[in-house]
Amino acid sequence: MRAVVSQPRHPPFNAACPPDPVLPCHLLPLQFLRPSSNTRTDSYGGDVAGRARFILDVVAATTAAIGVERVGIRLSPFSPFNDVALYDGLADDYVWLAEQLRGRVQYVHIVDHSSMGSPPVPDSVKAAMRKAYGGTFILSGGYDAERAEADVAAGKADLVAVGRPFLANPDLVKRWQLGAALNAVDFSTLYTPGEKGYLDYAEMA
Ligand SMILES: Cc1cc2nc3c(=O)[nH]c(=O)nc-3n(C[C@H](O)[C@H](O)[C@H](O)COP(=O)(O)O)c2cc1C
Repeated sequence: MRAVVSQPRHPPFNAACPPDPVLPCHLLPLQFLRPSSNTRTDSYGGDVAGRARFILDVVAATTAAIGVERVGIRLSPFSPFNDVALYDGLADDYVWLAEQLRGRVQYVHIVDHSSMGSPPVPDSVKAAMRKAYGGTFILSGGYDAERAEADVAAGKADLVAVGRPFLANPDLVKRWQLGAALNAVDFSTLYTPGEKGYLDYAEMA
């Protein structure tokens, strides 16, 4: 486990660092955190402190290598991705984790993929995690300009992240500023290899 945890110090993690302001962590931490995928009986399994140990060790190793200001973490509460199951106590575990991350990462970024068919992350859980973490808090998933403005104005988040609209609109910021129509996402080219669907959407005339 010590070798795995120290990997963020090595390529390709290192390669991702110089041009990027922060280094996000995802997927493997999710599988450690959830009891359905983490059946370990050592100190990296069991209660939430054990299941979260991998995440917190990776955060510690990564921030020691490149600095707290360059490490963010993206968490997916209520995500059933890759068959990781939801469970009683899940919300409490994520709030506990958010508290452990206080002061230890540059931001916490919450994934809510309810617009893609996943169970929604309740507003109450987002609010509790925001309070527990206490730092820069990012929400994402299914946002348009209006909802992004509203959620930031309501104090639900410091920032909102956007995926598919930005992919389909290289000039999304300008379009949002002008209230212009957006290119629709071509779902047939998502998660496919090659440039098509990633680099060929048109900017506004
Ligand atoms: C083609 C594609 C690739 C993605 N790859 C990742 C990824 O590697 N890591 C990740 O955390 N999210 C990934 N996502 C999810 C997005 O970051 C985002 O959470 C999701 O698209 C919902 O936000 P949206 O409604 O603004 O698109 C990907 C999404 C798409 C469409």
